[in-house]
Amino acid sequence: MKILVVGSGAREHALVTSLKADESVGRIICAPGNAGIARDVETRNLDSTNAHAIADLASGLEVDLVVIGPEVPLVAGAADAVRARGIACFGPSAAAAQIEGSKAFAKQVMDEAGVDTARARVCGVMVEVEEALDEFDAPHVVKDDGLAAGKGVVVTNDRDEALAHAQACLSRGGDARVVIEEYLDGPEVSLFGITDGTTIIPLEPAQDFKRAYDGDAGPNTGGMGAYSPLPWAPPTLVADVTERVLQPMIDTMRERGTPFVGLLYAGLALTTRGTRVIEFNARFGDPETQVVLARLASPLAQVLSAAATGTLGDLPPLAWHRGAAVTVVIASKGYPENPLTGDRIEGLDEAGGVEGVTVLHAGTRATADGIVTAGGRVLSITAQGESLAQARKRAYEALDCIGIEGAHHRSDIARAAAPDA
Ligand code: AMP
Ligand code: GLY
Repeated sequence: MKILVVGSGAREHALVTSLKADESVGRIICAPGNAGIARDVETRNLDSTNAHAIADLASGLEVDLVVIGPEVPLVAGAADAVRARGIACFGPSAAAAQIEGSKAFAKQVMDEAGVDTARARVCGVMVEVEEALDEFDAPHVVKDDGLAAGKGVVVTNDRDEALAHAQACLSRGGDARVVIEEYLDGPEVSLFGITDGTTIIPLEPAQDFKRAYDGDAGPNTGGMGAYSPLPWAPPTLVADVTERVLQPMIDTMRERGTPFVGLLYAGLALTTRGTRVIEFNARFGDPETQVVLARLASPLAQVLSAAATGTLGDLPPLAWHRGAAVTVVIASKGYPENPLTGDRIEGLDEAGGVEGVTVLHAGTRATADGIVTAGGRVLSITAQGESLAQARKRAYEALDCIGIEGAHHRSDIARAAAPDA
């Protein structure tokens, strides 16, 4: 099988690493990739936001399968463009990707599917925002309706800050909208389901750390670290969420005429009143994918290909490695507000030499002087171990080998779940 992977983050580096380990894969090309991916597989230049450029590249390379990592090309119709060339694609159509592209759309589908989520109001003007803030009380949750790379959400007790964020979102004009929600308490879980539009197979759950700094302080980011499994989660969590959330969503999407093919990501809050959906994404999560795929023992290409070709029901049950995985993100100085780029990255080989560790690249670029930073999130240091404590220890040991001027990371990834570390 010849596969094109689209994207340039640590999520795509994790996908490429797992696909390479599948014996059914003959050739992998990643576009545009990054400096770390380019060490492992062929890469090509690509404007990954351009659906037609993706389809052209897939046709030119005569690949059997395209795997689209990020949400932006999916929302722009990349999967439709690839399928129109007769090539199998792992990723939803533009219409189905609206589950992530519009929070208001996602709420509507959840309502139809009978899926539990936060009560919400969609607002187009500030008067509506004020009313909604009164209705739900503090803490206030204000979300940009459209795509915002994980940074469009403000959760705050400060009404003025909530109003200011809503104003900033609405001031873009056009059909800009914000969603005001009730606050959901309780720990968060990311659960991914791989689907061909009819069958959905859950992966193992993971927990992400969205805030920039230790102790869940600072602004929301794309994600600063993750771990799996979740020793504290109820044993029935995956089965319950599959039955009450993933399957009804997939069935409703199909019945609406927009079947969802690819990865449905459920962001969940385990609240005192039960499990509620915080959001859906239309693609693998980053950095959760780094830990979930590290634990997956089944051949990934066969799973993704079965989803893309409507044959998931024929697959044997997924197999998982024993043990645990932890990933810690190293971010550039200034991330998430104004990340600096162009700083040299030292110690990559030493970090990769730590037992059980894979250094996955995100914002990196190769120059004549060596590898330098090229984005907000730079590396995802991913470690496997027999226990969460061992995986965590290995990840931080590897992280200590890396030198990047002004970079920052969280030191509490998986700490509460692995107290013996
Ligand atoms: P989202 O982009 O919708 O996933 O939101 C990003 C993050 O904001 C989530 O992972 C939560 O930590 C937080 N968040 C979003 N919605 C809520 C909510 N209704 N209640 C509490 N926290 C929320
Ligand atoms: N880790 C959060 C996301 O991928 O959206």
